Amino acid sequence: MQRHVTLLALYNHPITRKYVSRSGMAHAISVAYHAYHLAIEKGIDPDLATKAGFLHDIGHYTWYKVDGDWDYHAYQNHDIHPIKGAERAHKLLIRLGEDRQKAKEVSLAILLHTDSILPEGQFNYTPLQSIVHMADEKDKEPHHLHHYRQIEAHKERQLISRLDEWVGAKMTVNTVGRLSSV
Ligand SMILES: [Fe+2]
Repeated sequence: MQRHVTLLALYNHPITRKYVSRSGMAHAISVAYHAYHLAIEKGIDPDLATKAGFLHDIGHYTWYKVDGDWDYHAYQNHDIHPIKGAERAHKLLIRLGEDRQKAKEVSLAILLHTDSILPEGQFNYTPLQSIVHMADEKDKEPHHLHHYRQIEAHKERQLISRLDEWVGAKMTVNTVGRLSSV
């Protein structure tokens, strides 16, 4: 399938910079890389996986106390970041020209990347939804330190561009494979 929106286009957008930065750009990029490797391993579309991985925490609010520390008590009681994130990511992707079906799948994977907002019970997750959750878990550090990790802006851009190249190459291979098998 054709690729309408690159990770670099998402990374460069002011909406991403404002909201993804709240929970850490380094964490978002790292989760996108984990999602890529899991997608390749499990035969899932890496374009969807990397976008959902990169944008999975775009729904965060800033739960800062007066002293500047993160208020985890308030966060745990009142957070709805998967819901906000699903909506924000969907709006952003559509605004940038994303295919509607892809925007919906990415949005749903973000909605379900954590069970923190879900009622108790068993759910049948799609493979994409499962790997975005797994990718996030892989990057987590004790005491929420993964949200505070930082890398330099030029390195962020480099990593995003490299991942775009990897995803683009996989999609070209798939397209060629499909064409040659017709
Ligand atoms: Fe996360």
